Amino acid sequence: MVRDLRSRGLATRAVHAGERKRPDGFIPISTPIYSTATFIYDHLSEIDSISAGERSGFTYSRHGNPTNAAFEEAVASLEGGGVALSVASGMAAILLALLCVGVEQGTTIAASQDLYGVTTKFLFDVAARWGARIEFVDVLDPDKRKDIWKLEPKVLLLESLTNPLLRIPDLPSLVKEAHAHKTCIVVDNTFATPLLLRPLEHGADCVVHSATKYFGGHGDLTGGVVVVQEEYGAEVRHLARLVGAILGPFEAWLALRGIKTLPLRFGRHCENAQRLAEWLAVHPRVEAVYYPGLDSHPDSQLAKTLFGGAGSGGVLSLKIRGARREDIFRFVDSLELFLKATSLGDVQSLVLYPAISSHRDLSPKQRERLGITDNLIRLSAGVEDFEDLKNDLEQALAKL
Ligand SMILES: Cc1ncc(COP(=O)(O)O)c(C=O)c1O
Repeated sequence: MVRDLRSRGLATRAVHAGERKRPDGFIPISTPIYSTATFIYDHLSEIDSISAGERSGFTYSRHGNPTNAAFEEAVASLEGGGVALSVASGMAAILLALLCVGVEQGTTIAASQDLYGVTTKFLFDVAARWGARIEFVDVLDPDKRKDIWKLEPKVLLLESLTNPLLRIPDLPSLVKEAHAHKTCIVVDNTFATPLLLRPLEHGADCVVHSATKYFGGHGDLTGGVVVVQEEYGAEVRHLARLVGAILGPFEAWLALRGIKTLPLRFGRHCENAQRLAEWLAVHPRVEAVYYPGLDSHPDSQLAKTLFGGAGSGGVLSLKIRGARREDIFRFVDSLELFLKATSLGDVQSLVLYPAISSHRDLSPKQRERLGITDNLIRLSAGVEDFEDLKNDLEQALAKL
């Protein structure tokens, strides 16, 4: 530390004055935003022993940061264990997860055909370039599951609640079969959140989240998290340092704050989504509603057993009877409370048109095969008053 700072020159004082005060016995109620690239110690030997892994501590923010560590601990705690690592986005989390479970040249990635469109594109445009073989598989039909293992995949990548039709793979059965075939399972748990499902507790090897969604919850950050079983802990930390797509401490702080109200918000998201789904299901302008909390949904039973009565999520999709693209544009433009945002999981209700956004990169034929028709709309129920959300949809449907 600089001694006798007041006797030094102005430039020296400008750089050092006021900095690096040790906490004087107080503990801030909220973890501070450690906006610092490096951490210093009185003795060089301390940095040496931290770098050698002999003691805990922080040296360089790409290797770890106290604000990020607090967020990571919160996520690991909610996911029921493992080691969590925060990264710059949900896509960075997917990249890190695949590297962590050993995807490399010549390995096969079995990917659910119902993945988020950009994840599918990532597999083609990035993972395939590493020399990985990408095979799209049906993880929903029990009769087709044996075809997956014939491919001898290194990893099976799936979403626990799919986008936009909200299908639910039978994760406990898939994990059992995958491990019997020496296949790792990576689960994108963004839509379900750990409040509905904790894949590590079912034996999954790795969980990824886009923290941009429910963890942040307010549409004000981009972030991601990877949570791995303990056995992958050292590897995920090692790879994260090399990839370098770390989460900034401000975003980590926002996400940590977001998590504090996640159970409150998510309960309300689920309640609003359930009530909207039930109301829309009998609306004359609506052809179909996709929500696992409805008995008509093919996975409603699985939702009950797997999610343990915690709800069925905050996202629902609907098909508007006879609507063409221009009708959908008119409908969406008429909405006032549902904001036209390409995201989900925010306190604000959001509306998304999959054909031009999340699944834009797929050909019309691919979309049709996945059931993503031109009259399909996805809603993310916010935490507003239900009656206001219902009235907003009603007035927009009336304009069709
Ligand atoms: C299920 C799912 N996974 C991953 C992502 C990517 O997350 P991010 O936008 O934070 O990179 C998204 C984004 O919409 C998503 O919906």
